[in-house]
Amino acid sequence: MSDKQVVKVLFVCLGNICRSPTAHGVFQKISEDADLGQIIQVDSAGTAAYHVGNPPDNRSIKAAATRGYELNYLRARKVDDADFFSFDYLLAMDNENLQELKQRCPTKHKHKVQLFLNYGTFGEEQVPDPYYGGGAGFDHVLDLVEDAAQGLLEHITRNHN
Ligand code: 4NP
Repeated sequence: MSDKQVVKVLFVCLGNICRSPTAHGVFQKISEDADLGQIIQVDSAGTAAYHVGNPPDNRSIKAAATRGYELNYLRARKVDDADFFSFDYLLAMDNENLQELKQRCPTKHKHKVQLFLNYGTFGEEQVPDPYYGGGAGFDHVLDLVEDAAQGLLEHITRNHN
C-alpha cells in the first residue's frame, strides 16, 4: 500500500452515540495497530440530530473501555451532504440507516453506501440498536463490530494501493 493514498471511512447509525461511535473507536484502533493510522481516516455520524454535540452513551464508553477502545473523546454529529463526496465508504449499521443514506446519496456515489456487516463473518446483517435494551446489547454490538472491522481492514488493505 502506498504511503500517499488516504481512505476515508464513515460509520453511520441513528443517534451517533452507541453503534457508530463504537465502530469508529474500534476501527480507529485496529487501523493504528496495523500501522495504517495515517492512511485510513475514520469518522462517524448519525442520520438523526437528537444527540448532536454529545459524547457517546456511557454504556458504550464503558463496554468499549473493557476491551481497550477509547470512545469518550468522540462527539455526535449528523450526516452531512458533503459526506457523500468526501468519504470512500459510508457504512450503515442497520437497514433503516442504509435506506436513509441511499435516499440522500447522489447516484454517482451510491456504491459507497453499504451495510457495515457485509464485512463481517457472523452471518448477521444488521447491528441491533442497543439504546433501549440492557447491557448485553452493548457487548453484542462490540462482538459484531470487532468482527466486521477486521474484515473491513483486510478489504481495504487488499483493494487500495
Ligand atoms: P445509536 O443508538 O443509533 O446506535 O446511536 C441510538 C441512540 C439514541 C437513540 C436511538 C438510537 N434515540 O432515539 O435517542
